[in-house]
Amino acid sequence: MTVSPPSSQQSTSPNPAARPATSSRLGGVPVLAVANQKGGVGKTTTSVATAVMLAQAGLRVLLIDLDPQGNASSSLGIDKSSLVRTTYDLMIGRARATDAARPSGRDGLDIVATSSSLAAAEIELVDIDDRERQLQRALVGIEGRYDLVMLDCPPSLGLLTVNAFTAASSVLVPIQCEFLPLEGLTQLQRTIGQVRQHLNPELVITGVLMTMYDARTRLSAQVVEEVRRFYPKELFATVIPRSIRLAEAPSYGLSIAEYDPKSNGAVAYQRLVGELIQRLGLPTPA
Ligand SMILES: Nc1ncnc2c1ncn2[C@@H]1O[C@H](COP(=O)(O)OP(=O)(O)OP(=O)(O)O)[C@@H](O)[C@H]1O
Ligand SMILES: [Mg+2]
Repeated sequence: MTVSPPSSQQSTSPNPAARPATSSRLGGVPVLAVANQKGGVGKTTTSVATAVMLAQAGLRVLLIDLDPQGNASSSLGIDKSSLVRTTYDLMIGRARATDAARPSGRDGLDIVATSSSLAAAEIELVDIDDRERQLQRALVGIEGRYDLVMLDCPPSLGLLTVNAFTAASSVLVPIQCEFLPLEGLTQLQRTIGQVRQHLNPELVITGVLMTMYDARTRLSAQVVEEVRRFYPKELFATVIPRSIRLAEAPSYGLSIAEYDPKSNGAVAYQRLVGELIQRLGLPTPA
């Protein structure tokens, strides 16, 4: 089966990574959506690992769990039965992010956690005018409180992800090192292009991240080269290896930086954080 490759010229700016990736609406606070409609490619692992590392580096980070599965919330050890306000409240206009954010138990990192009720929001929103802007509206007020907002998206291109793209200033796309890596990305790019055209002209792809790289197989290296041909500027230099430690960390409610900071996976995510700080122009506290 052949897959038509996504054309980065067609729907992204000529050099997205060179454009400022901050949101002019929120006093310049970057809002980064971690998205790929394909399941299990490392969106949540990347969101949680980088959010914790950026907080450890001294930044004030807000992570919003936009997936009804709630994996980002549980990966950080949040007890989902104790939640008062969740992403659901943001999506139906019942709370702002500043009210729903709760401490994650780590300095510098707050989270808007989610529970399965978020799945209902997709249906309830169908009757609401301007439903694509619910999250954008809920972010008003974060200016000055956070240096970065991260959105862990669900594995679909439905209304939750469209809300993320409308609220975001940029997108990070994790791609798993496996057969047919570009499959599905045409659709992702089309959605980003449509959001840019109709809802959020600021949106850029800040980076494409290869995940679950297996150095023992030729396939992984071939896949990275294939993706590099289509995303030469967007591809991060950092590649995330397949690592058992990364897969184990969530079951302890810990990020990789806490579970095993010396593991290959942690070292790779630390490198990615360096690239992200540069690309997003994030402040680097002394
Ligand atoms: N680099 C890695 N090495 C080994 N396992 C990994 C790696 N990255 C993620 N995993 C594991 O793969 C699974 C999928 O990862 P993750 O939940 O981050 O993907 P996702 O894209 O968020 O999935 P979903 O689409 O369901 O939200 C998880 O069990 C996770 O622990
Ligand atoms: Mg996930």
